[in-house]
Amino acid sequence: MPFPNSLWTSLFLFTLVSPVFSALYTTPSQLPQTTFDYIIVGAGTAGNVVANRLSEKEGVSVLVLEAGVSNEGVDAAAIPLLGPSLVPNTLYDWNYTTVEQKGYDNRVLPYSRGRMLGGSSSVNYLVYTRGSSDDFERIAKETGDSGWGWDNIKKYIPRHEKFVAPADGHDTKGEFTATAHGTDGILQISLPNFPNTLDERVMATTKELSKDFPFLEDHNGGDVLGIAWSQASIGGGARSSSATAYLSADFLKRPNLHVLINAQVTKLVQTGTQDGVAVFHGVEFATKAGEEVTTVTSTKETILSAGTIGTPTILQLSGIGDNDELTKVGIKTVFNNPSVGKNLTDHPLLANVYSVKGTESFDGLFRSTDTLHSNIERWVSNKTGPLTSSVCNHIGFFRLPDDSDLLKKFGDPSSGPKGAHLEMIFSNLWVQPGIPAPKTGSFFTITTSVTSPTSRGYTKLSSSDPFAKPTIDPNFLGTEFDRLALRQSVKLAQRFITASVWKDYITAPFGDYSRATTDDSLDAYARANAATFFHPVGTALMSPKGAQYGVTDPDLKVKGVQGLRIIDGSVLPYLPSGHTQAPIYLVAERAADLVKADNPVFGGSNSTSNGSTTGSNAGSRPGISVAVVGGAVASLLIISLTL
Ligand SMILES: Cc1cc2nc3c(=O)[nH]c(=O)nc-3n(C[C@H](O)[C@H](O)[C@H](O)COP(=O)(O)OP(=O)(O)OC[C@H]3O[C@@H](n4cnc5c(N)ncnc54)[C@H](O)[C@@H]3O)c2cc1C
Ligand SMILES: *[C@@H]1O[C@H](CO)[C@@H](O)[C@H](O)[C@H]1NC(C)=O
Ligand SMILES: *[C@@H]1O[C@H](CO)[C@@H](O)[C@H](O)[C@H]1NC(C)=O
Ligand SMILES: *[C@@H]1O[C@H](CO)[C@@H](O)[C@H](O)[C@H]1NC(C)=O
Ligand SMILES: *[C@@H]1O[C@H](CO)[C@@H](O)[C@H](O)[C@H]1NC(C)=O
Ligand SMILES: *[C@@H]1O[C@H](CO)[C@@H](O)[C@H](O)[C@H]1NC(C)=O
Repeated sequence: MPFPNSLWTSLFLFTLVSPVFSALYTTPSQLPQTTFDYIIVGAGTAGNVVANRLSEKEGVSVLVLEAGVSNEGVDAAAIPLLGPSLVPNTLYDWNYTTVEQKGYDNRVLPYSRGRMLGGSSSVNYLVYTRGSSDDFERIAKETGDSGWGWDNIKKYIPRHEKFVAPADGHDTKGEFTATAHGTDGILQISLPNFPNTLDERVMATTKELSKDFPFLEDHNGGDVLGIAWSQASIGGGARSSSATAYLSADFLKRPNLHVLINAQVTKLVQTGTQDGVAVFHGVEFATKAGEEVTTVTSTKETILSAGTIGTPTILQLSGIGDNDELTKVGIKTVFNNPSVGKNLTDHPLLANVYSVKGTESFDGLFRSTDTLHSNIERWVSNKTGPLTSSVCNHIGFFRLPDDSDLLKKFGDPSSGPKGAHLEMIFSNLWVQPGIPAPKTGSFFTITTSVTSPTSRGYTKLSSSDPFAKPTIDPNFLGTEFDRLALRQSVKLAQRFITASVWKDYITAPFGDYSRATTDDSLDAYARANAATFFHPVGTALMSPKGAQYGVTDPDLKVKGVQGLRIIDGSVLPYLPSGHTQAPIYLVAERAADLVKADNPVFGGSNSTSNGSTTGSNAGSRPGISVAVVGGAVASLLIISLTL
């Protein structure tokens, strides 16, 4: 959900400490060797999970290649509510844009992807939702691998999650279901870390309009339908990302784990042929365009974890993709697979803004440098205060009514009866992609979405130059179902605010939204204002072994070649009933077991029963917590007040 507050986007925080870690290399010459058991491309959300799990075993060498910079000392990546200043078009972003979106009045959108350790988990908006059990059941059913079903996937929660108390120490009774959580895993997750003025009103609405908007105790236990207290990837008031958690100092100490940043993989190199199939064990990378290329080799597997845009791009650059597309840009096809880069699926986002009374919204936090500074100083001194907030304290997921014309006409695109069609997010401030907050006024934004979109797009090479940006078309609102469902999502928001608690708070819908009074004007408003949740999946989707479509088998091995596996959001055949980071973490946890199961050195079978690697969470790397030194903060902030 973009937060294009011009104050945030022009805010830079510098650090005083830049620690060096033995196994974190910054230039290729520091690599101790050029051959590794496993090479992982992309130190992102999924890649770091796999790196962590494979390097559990002493003597198994793992190299992770990351194009971006370190997250270390990037304070906006640690302070939750400053996260939205990290993209678009920064040092931490791939700076992609979409092609003109027909469904959005031909607008071009920024299409951010994290480009630093932690990948998109270092720049995202921290919302943590695992999705519905039906989402996983559908994947299991369609791939023919019951291991993707919820009953198996949920076994990974205790190893993955460390559910912690919120930074404000409030009593969380009734805000979550303890049995849905792990407390001994690696990634820190918490309930809202700071209260806001919407909390009681949202809760009151779930009582007054309980039929339409029921309260759900916990949206991370397999059920998502209803309105729940939002959970976020935040621990001790700071962002918990795959970099701070799965690559913490304790893990980076492992002598068999090697992480190189500033290393952009330019292609995979075929190293041989086995049974008539190309074997890929070589990986080429460069520190920047025009620089010399370095080649490294995996003896066991190369694992692509470069994300939903990066992974198909690397496959295509390596000759694995749609023959016609590759030929057009002058790349020789090694394996013709037209599914590579197709089926791109993303959540449309529509931020519906209301003007509200009083000064209790968070809008004021970013209007004055003094206010912002004092809140940053508070965060630095004890990691509390409004900046520990994610973008919302409540989220709701909903289904269209069973008898809705939409479902009758188009069928049900959700994963099942527990899957969602629509989402609402309640934010205590102005959210409007690409449009800076007004200089005055207080706002309440209900961001809505189509959770089960039927539009599919693509990503393809624009050139054979690995440093060129790919052509990306998410095809937002490309189907009538999506257009009509987005309209329903706004109507849901409009029904939500009919509860009596909003009468003395909301003044009026703001801007364009105030003119969205008929179906036609509402659709026009949506086309002119909708954006993206940045949740792309599907461009290397898994399908049954032997299927005529798909990029990987259910064990995530790349079809048609040997030596390659894909572990990241691109393998998900559908969007979850929720945001994407949590399901991607869980997919990566299981995928690491699948890799282990193929290598006798890990004990001949997967390691689910071993559990292992818990208790190392204390290891957020030194630096994050001390990077900003109290009194120095104000002078280190460069802020241009361009609101
Ligand atoms: C602005 C924003 C807000 C979001 N908000 C939320 C949210 O609130 N909640 C939520 O659940 N999800 C959110 N998401 C989505 C979520 O973060 C992503 O779906 C998820 O993190 C993707 O994980 P991944 O492992 O597939 O890819 P990534 O985490 O993106 O990792 C890919 C990694 O590979 C690296 N890479 C790519 N190409 C190469 C190459 N050629 N060579 C070397 N390295 C390469 C990248 O730099 C990156 O580090 C958001 C995303 C964005 C961008
Ligand atoms: C993205 O844009 C920023 C700001 O212009 C720039 O510093 C960065 O190098 C760009 N990154 C890429 C990958 O193009
Ligand atoms: C996209 O995915 C669907 C299954 O969800 C599949 O039937 C179709 O063939 C895929 N398209 C391509 C081009 O691979
Ligand atoms: C944190 O510091 C702020 C002042 O910077 C103070 O108001 C607040 O009470 C402190 N909170 C805790 C939990 O110590
Ligand atoms: C691990 O092994 C068990 C028992 O053999 C099996 O049920 C489970 O599906 C396997 N998990 C993975 C990830 O392969
Ligand atoms: C699991 O535990 C057994 C016994 O301790 C050990 O031999 C094996 O290597 C472990 N497997 C993994 C993957 O750690």
